[in-house]
Amino acid sequence: MSKTKLTFRLAADNDARLLWRWRNEPSGLKNYFSPKPVPWAVHQAWFLRKQRDPRTRIFVVSAGTTPVGQVRVDVGDHRIGEMHIVLDKAARGRGWGGEAIAAVATRVVRAGLADALVARIKPDNVASVVAFLKAGFLLKKLKKVKGVICYELERKRP
Ligand SMILES: CC(C)(COP(=O)(O)OP(=O)(O)OC[C@H]1O[C@@H](n2cnc3c(N)ncnc32)[C@H](O)[C@@H]1OP(=O)(O)O)[C@@H](O)C(=O)NCCC(=O)NCCS
Repeated sequence: MSKTKLTFRLAADNDARLLWRWRNEPSGLKNYFSPKPVPWAVHQAWFLRKQRDPRTRIFVVSAGTTPVGQVRVDVGDHRIGEMHIVLDKAARGRGWGGEAIAAVATRVVRAGLADALVARIKPDNVASVVAFLKAGFLLKKLKKVKGVICYELERKRP
């Protein structure tokens, strides 16, 4: 586990291109329920919509002064927040995924945005499953998302 301290800030409008680059990073694509690269114009419209949505929070994670990834929470029915994470390829393998998920989960629950958090992960995405388990999530059930059976993990309290 690295000793580098991670910091978190809300994404700004000018982070669009950074997030787009992470979203389309080739090794991560297979892990998404929509595994095709997202065109820039589609991403821009999506990002603008998410930035204006009061039920979404996008955090940029930095190590020192370097942005290393993003964690997003979309709050849905019953005040359940769905979490998404992507780390820059160069930032993986240091345990930062679990640390970032735990920190953002704690923030959004303490801020009163959500009562519980879930993650839906394709079964072959072992690094993501482990990262969420390390962040205090537990396996809840199997769930079909866009025709794909995935694990649903849940964290009730920080
Ligand atoms: C998910 C993600 C954020 C995790 O990043 P990370 O925290 O750096 O993950 P790591 O590489 O440290 O792996 C996490 C753990 O899983 C373990 N792991 C990874 N692949 C594994 C495998 N195939 N078998 C067994 N264990 C594995 C690692 O050893 C590590 O455990 P450790 O901390 O005890 O050493 C990162 O892989 C990512 O950005 N992936 C692309 C986007 C993505 O898939 N997002 C999630 C969509 S649900």
